[in-house]
Amino acid sequence: MHPVFWKTLTALLILCLLIQQFGGHDWPHELHKKYFAHRPEASGYDYSYSKPSRLRGWRYEWERDRNNHGLSAEQCNAAFPKLYNDIDRAVGHWADREITPETIELYDGNEAGVRVLFKDQQLRVVQTRGMFRDDFRLRIMAVLHQLHRAITSVEGIDRPIDDTEATIVVDDWPNFPNDGRELATWSFTRAAESDDHAGVWLIPDFNFWSAPPAAGAYQEMQAKARKHDAPIIDKKQKLVWRGVDWTNPEVRGALLNATMYEPWADVKKMTWSNTSDKMALEEFCRYGYVVNTEGRSWSSRLLHLLNCDSVPVSHDLAWVAHYYHLLEPDVNFIPVHRDFSDLGEKMRFFVDNPHVAQGIADSARTTFRERYTTPAATACYWRRLLRSWSSVAFKPEGYEPVGGSMSHREQGIRGITFEEFL
Ligand SMILES: *[C@@H]1O[C@H](CO)[C@@H](O)[C@H](O)[C@H]1NC(C)=O
Ligand SMILES: *[C@@H]1O[C@H](CO)[C@@H](O)[C@H](O)[C@H]1NC(C)=O
Repeated sequence: MHPVFWKTLTALLILCLLIQQFGGHDWPHELHKKYFAHRPEASGYDYSYSKPSRLRGWRYEWERDRNNHGLSAEQCNAAFPKLYNDIDRAVGHWADREITPETIELYDGNEAGVRVLFKDQQLRVVQTRGMFRDDFRLRIMAVLHQLHRAITSVEGIDRPIDDTEATIVVDDWPNFPNDGRELATWSFTRAAESDDHAGVWLIPDFNFWSAPPAAGAYQEMQAKARKHDAPIIDKKQKLVWRGVDWTNPEVRGALLNATMYEPWADVKKMTWSNTSDKMALEEFCRYGYVVNTEGRSWSSRLLHLLNCDSVPVSHDLAWVAHYYHLLEPDVNFIPVHRDFSDLGEKMRFFVDNPHVAQGIADSARTTFRERYTTPAATACYWRRLLRSWSSVAFKPEGYEPVGGSMSHREQGIRGITFEEFL
């Protein structure tokens, strides 16, 4: 061949290489396009998709459906119409803000958490923190399992969940940097009055999987609690509580003070060294009245108390969990002041008027353990959360460089699969 041919070919090849390496890509712009190109309007999402409709004539029946993790989106809406308030609140909050990869960073102030990626219906773990601690590890496992179950149980029933990415804080509350940055964290609870927490997306806590370390699966705990079902007048005519006071001396100390020597109270403080008064969760259901107390933040105690068909009593709450908007004072629980100053008066009234107490217990039972705190409702909540979240969040990067040289980077899917992680 003529040398000019080889020279031209070489020049062309070099040019190709140069374009590939330093071509006119505006990377930030490209990334931005990738993240936001497919972002639909939050309000325009169709939650009712399912194929074919399973709704014809279907009505939620708790005996049959309570442990069904695989209700379709239509069934979820029909069975639990009031469940999704806090998701809608979070969507509203983020409607005029951007959820970017930066807003879901696992902020240093949070000791325990997990960052997950959904890609092609596969749950993947991208980052964890706190795995060395038994309690945090159990919480992370409980959250991942719930997510996994919620998704796999509707395969072939609902439209698949869009690829998405999120960060879950599993400590007792989420922390935020004090540099004005707002984070879009998923968490078990948020402080009702905190501006920082307005951007939190509430998730069902780990107790909805299992209460570590000794309790069984959540549906098993619900079944155990039901063994003690009885009319209120046939239960012990007392308010029951066990616990430590150091997690919240203001509230728990006040309860101990307000119930000391009262005939209507069976309230005992425990210490780490003396747990002789410890009671199994189901034992609380033998009592007519069960009282909720906040601890370091929200108290998962309330969820277990609602599994009894007893009368729930609660002080004014500063922390919110995903179903708390369904608590109605004097309808499905007895509200008392945070310092319990009105507890004695209320207890005397209800013990003297058992039919009023029974009405509250019935309402609590039908609202919570037979509907909104069932495993079926919880799976519906997780799926709605994923769909709502992915409708306002950035579109995740699915791949990352896993090796090779700069000019020849190999791409791998980010994170590891849930199965491998376990
Ligand atoms: C409970 O009573 C003790 C003794 O009177 C008192 O020192 C303490 O402050 C009280 N606790 C609360 C939270 O009111
Ligand atoms: C532990 O508490 C129980 C009940 O309050 C009490 O009867 C018992 O004496 C305590 N045991 C010790 C070792 O302090």
